[in-house]
Amino acid sequence: MATPIDLSTTLGNAWFPTPLFTASGCASSGKELAQFFPLKDIGAVVTKSVMTKPRHGRPTPRMAETPSGMLNSIGLQGPGIDAFLANDVPWLLQQGSRVIVSIAGETIDEYSVLARKIRSTPGISAVEVNISCPNVENRGMVFAADCDTAARVIEGVRKVIGGEIPILAKLTPDVTSIVDVARSVVNAGADGVALINTVLGMVINLDTMRPHLGGKTGGLSGPAIRPIAVRAIFQVREALPNLPILGMGGVSTGRDALELIFAGASGVSIGTASFGNPTAIIEIQNQLRELLAQRGFTSLHQAVGYAHR
Ligand SMILES: Cc1cc2nc3c(=O)[nH]c(=O)nc-3n(C[C@H](O)[C@H](O)[C@H](O)COP(=O)(O)O)c2cc1C
Repeated sequence: MATPIDLSTTLGNAWFPTPLFTASGCASSGKELAQFFPLKDIGAVVTKSVMTKPRHGRPTPRMAETPSGMLNSIGLQGPGIDAFLANDVPWLLQQGSRVIVSIAGETIDEYSVLARKIRSTPGISAVEVNISCPNVENRGMVFAADCDTAARVIEGVRKVIGGEIPILAKLTPDVTSIVDVARSVVNAGADGVALINTVLGMVINLDTMRPHLGGKTGGLSGPAIRPIAVRAIFQVREALPNLPILGMGGVSTGRDALELIFAGASGVSIGTASFGNPTAIIEIQNQLRELLAQRGFTSLHQAVGYAHR
């Protein structure tokens, strides 16, 4: 019989039985995926970024297909933190799922308000702080595009959360140096980083002769961005070898996931691939196990960052 592979992983002080997670915004709070497989069979559900108040998102159309990818301008649509913590988190915990809550704010203070509410909700494994969204106090400039602003958000969240729940800062690749941003969030108290959010793009509709998306620009996801994710993960791992990285960006097979792991990711989130194939995460998990065994690994841990040796 083949030696079993230990797929378990950690992000800060949070432990997960497998390294495959949903990507924020791509599985809502997990209810749709639960029709296809038990949510406890994957590492964790990373929930859609939640804000303080209910939101409707951005104007339509909100999606465009692109070569090997997808452009979306859904915006941060959702029920608001109170309804989310009262309904979605208890439901996920009842399923035996581990939960990583993604939060997003329009101001630095809003993140701290969200963090305070999370601290008083038991059972949450980690917080993913989505700082790849616009700061209304600074001309809509994305928080994570500026090292100081990014650090101030994380500092605020850290102060409120205390030491128990790991904080992952989710960064945008649309910066000159993602390593500088990673360093500044770590100095501000992040336990790890989530790399990468979508890449800013645009599609022009040749019939209307105007931008296709209602929000004009959108976030590019899917296989088209995978080399950007691999590059970002590799660079951050090289500069900060002990920093836990949750990787994502265009992963749709076990081979893709392994590429991110070799670059330095301890966990991999699956986003766009789940839209076309709701069991993608489970299939990727099985493929990954096989690929690790074929290469002589007995644990995931041995493979993380292997490309740096
Ligand atoms: C429709 C859609 C909605 C998303 N919503 C969020 C979100 O609410 N918060 C967040 O941090 N990332 C969000 N993302 C980004 C994904 O979590 C992920 O970082 C990105 O899509 C790259 O992974 P993928 O290529 O596997 O989709 C969203 C992506 C898509 C496609």
